[in-house]
Amino acid sequence: MFDEIKLNKEYKYFDGCRWVHSAEYRKIEIKNPVDDSVVGCIQNCTGDEIIRVVETLKEGQKRWASKTIDERATILDKAADIIESQVDFIGNILCREIAKPLNDAKEEILRSAQITRFTSHSVRTIEGQYLQSGVFYNTKNNKQCLVKREPLGIVLAISPFNYPVNLSCSKIAPALASGNAVILKPPLEGAISAFHLVQCFLEAGVPGGVIATVTGESKKIGDILVPHEDISCISFTGSTSTGEIIARKAGIKKLLFELGGNGTAIILDDCDLEKTINDVIPGAFSYSGQRCTAIKRLLVQDKIAGRAIALMKKKIEKLSVGSPLKNNDITPLVGLHHAEFVENLINGAKRGGAKIITGGRRKGNLIEPTLIDKVDPGMSIANVEQFGPVLPVIRFKKIDEAIEITNTTKYGLQSCVFTQDIDKAFYIAERILTGTMNINCAPSRGPDTFPFLGVKKSGIGVQGIKDSILEMTREKVIVIKTSKNLSK
Ligand code: G3H
Repeated sequence: MFDEIKLNKEYKYFDGCRWVHSAEYRKIEIKNPVDDSVVGCIQNCTGDEIIRVVETLKEGQKRWASKTIDERATILDKAADIIESQVDFIGNILCREIAKPLNDAKEEILRSAQITRFTSHSVRTIEGQYLQSGVFYNTKNNKQCLVKREPLGIVLAISPFNYPVNLSCSKIAPALASGNAVILKPPLEGAISAFHLVQCFLEAGVPGGVIATVTGESKKIGDILVPHEDISCISFTGSTSTGEIIARKAGIKKLLFELGGNGTAIILDDCDLEKTINDVIPGAFSYSGQRCTAIKRLLVQDKIAGRAIALMKKKIEKLSVGSPLKNNDITPLVGLHHAEFVENLINGAKRGGAKIITGGRRKGNLIEPTLIDKVDPGMSIANVEQFGPVLPVIRFKKIDEAIEITNTTKYGLQSCVFTQDIDKAFYIAERILTGTMNINCAPSRGPDTFPFLGVKKSGIGVQGIKDSILEMTREKVIVIKTSKNLSK
């Protein structure tokens, strides 16, 4: 099933109709973050090739949009089955490409199948509206208004390295379901797994001219596609700085962005500490902290700080460290530059007077799971999106102090509070500037049926299965004037 997408170790790009090689002879190597071995090479698309992809999809999208919702949804159902049947195969490639623990990598593929299946279900339930005149001043009962939803056109889907399959799928599925064509620009690390996902959609019957992949130099691709007038929507997950560049270049088109996060967990002294820490540890350390919803700052109320730190130290020291193929909890970060960045943040915190409770060292691109106490809210480690297996602890006394510290970050994706007092939980939830506030659970994008959004520098628009369909369609209003006043 995947024979066409590569020749030996060289993966092609899908130009809208076929998997092909780029005319550019220089290819890009994708290396395993664990041992630097080459997983495969991908194409470095030329400017002309990228422009031709848009032209192909412009025509194909019209044919795709004219299909019935049932026809498109049925193809998505088939795609979901195919993706599910390839969990092991694609999961294995994903594990080698981005060093995600094997079981988590397989879970990512399964979740993608479920997103596709549920998108098919959701698109069938999208409803229009009927309105009538005569409710506003100076109007008669002679106008009827129908509101339906239409696809936007071509969606440019730009996905990140940490969920290259799932976050490609959560863009492709709603785009296709609602009649759009999609150009996928996958991340470099994870591109090969994403190609396999695309092939699953093609195998399910997505026709030519509806989906394409482009790979190569991000800046070149962005310069061509982002401002292109035939691109109607950009669905991007990635850093705030890249999001800002895209937004400046895009011009007038729909932007759907999930950007950085710097999630805060607030632990009040009345919480069930054991249960809380059981949520906080995976919330901070799963996939070695390389999740935009990961807990990046832990605010602990003074009275329980000593106990909380002792408990976390014990649990963190039990996390296994090593190969993703063996399902270790902590695996090498996706790149050396990235690990060095995290190491610098740890060292900066140390120099500023914070105390390393456990971990703190780097070996190659592997960072030990690290707990740091006595972090000052002004330190870089507490303010930038560090994307590593590091949990900085900030102690606080009063609830309002915790709210103030949480709100100092430029991000606003998700945060959480742990307490047994529902009044305190609501008091805090209503005052934190965030897309989602979790009470007694760690931040998370899923379940994917929930709306997922960021405020401040964390995003624009709302994702989630139904929300993404709504964002990738627009309302079309049809007004009918009747010659007779319709009131009886
Ligand atoms: O990294 C960003 C992802 O959207 C986070 O998803 O909460 O399922 O890990 P997650």
